[in-house]
Amino acid sequence: MFKFASLLAFLSVLPSISYAQSQVYGQCGGIQWGGPTTCVSGSVCTYVNDYYSQCLPGSATSSTSTRSTTSSTSTRTTTSTTTTGTGPTSTPAAGNPFVGYDVFLNPYYAAEVKAAAAAMTDSSLAAKAASVANIPSFFWLDTVSKVPTLGTFLSNATALQTSSGKKQIVPIVVYDLPDRDCAAKASNGEFSIANGGQANYYNYIDQIVAQIKQYPNVRVVAVIEPDSLANLVTNLNVAKCANAQTTYKTCVTYALQQLASVGVYMYMDAGHAGWLGWPANIQPAASLFASMYKSANSSPFVRGLATNVANYNALSAASPDPITQGNSNYDELHYIQALGPMLASAGFPAQFVVDQGRSGQQNLRNQWGDWCNIKGAGFGTRPTTSTPSSLIDAIVWVKPGGESDGTSNSSSPRFDSTCSLSDATQPAPEAGTWFQTYFETLVSKANPSL
Ligand SMILES: *[C@@H]1O[C@H](CO)[C@@H](O)[C@H](O)[C@H]1NC(C)=O
Ligand SMILES: *[C@@H]1O[C@H](CO)[C@@H](O)[C@H](O)[C@H]1NC(C)=O
Repeated sequence: MFKFASLLAFLSVLPSISYAQSQVYGQCGGIQWGGPTTCVSGSVCTYVNDYYSQCLPGSATSSTSTRSTTSSTSTRTTTSTTTTGTGPTSTPAAGNPFVGYDVFLNPYYAAEVKAAAAAMTDSSLAAKAASVANIPSFFWLDTVSKVPTLGTFLSNATALQTSSGKKQIVPIVVYDLPDRDCAAKASNGEFSIANGGQANYYNYIDQIVAQIKQYPNVRVVAVIEPDSLANLVTNLNVAKCANAQTTYKTCVTYALQQLASVGVYMYMDAGHAGWLGWPANIQPAASLFASMYKSANSSPFVRGLATNVANYNALSAASPDPITQGNSNYDELHYIQALGPMLASAGFPAQFVVDQGRSGQQNLRNQWGDWCNIKGAGFGTRPTTSTPSSLIDAIVWVKPGGESDGTSNSSSPRFDSTCSLSDATQPAPEAGTWFQTYFETLVSKANPSL
């Protein structure tokens, strides 16, 4: 809904331009969408979810505007893509995979940010907003239909590496498990376990692998499946999570093994301090992550864990937020320094990346578990390899700030009541779609300021 409103606002300040076709990355369909349903040349209208189809770069032969991931794709296709190299597969580099590399700026987010800045009437705010396009964030492969776009970005990163002489690392999020988001509703995915989900997931991973194989000269770093393994630590009392346990482990193991085979550096998602950092949860979490690492044959490409993805916690809080009361791990640094040694003892010498994209402002929430479009949040510390702990490879922006965490429309099938709590910004559009007023707040509350 808000996407629609913000695009209307955008159009209203540019009355002389009429979009007979949507621009690259523009919306081109979805329930209640009243705008154009075709895309400019060089892009294809691609189903993202029932509420949102988007013009993604490519030609009409590679994808169509219809849903591309039905159960008809449930048989695993062995891709016979011609590869131009052996892939950066065999020898993992020692040490921090970010060091010596520029993090590739994904054009998808940059285009969202540029459109958002253009829609702002306050020119000083708009200038700050536009600068966000130069800050790297991760590209979320949250549907199989986005995988061809990864190929485009890898091609762009390879070209940039050649022209600039600066090595490029392309950051992605692997996020398409069957029965995804098993303890909440806002980010329900496209695959279900009951309907061929595991085979669909294997196909999704195979397609990612096939793209990466074609671009062996750039490095890829991936956050693996936000929330999934953390849900297995604490939410097996939820029937959907209990039912998904075996499939999640099987699918994540497949992802780790296959992506390691093409040299992707991986960080499994490990929730955050206010989730797995509690005394009752942290040792079970360490055991689970260590067992996943071993299931991937202790590959050095499974570099470690990602924390605070899409969350709001400080890396190092000046003082504990009152909502953290009772937990000695009241920020991400305490959590990581507690979890790291437990992982090492369990045989997993894990390093960390920490999302600080929306952690600029603190003490905003009513409860630590609140996660949906938190009011008053600001962009946080910029991505860097200068970190306060030798366990932390990099501060990163995994969540692209400005994309909604979930809708506040209680009639939506993906409505989660967390998104209508008093500390959640409302009205909010569907998860993953652009949330203009929320982005404006992130910009104006950025700390350090933009
Ligand atoms: C990115 O790659 C695509 C496909 O190779 C190409 O069409 C496009 O022009 C590239 N964009 C940039 C900014 O290099
Ligand atoms: C909320 O979602 C329902 C179901 O998709 C839709 O019919 C309704 O128009 C939406 N309401 C608003 C205010 O967006």
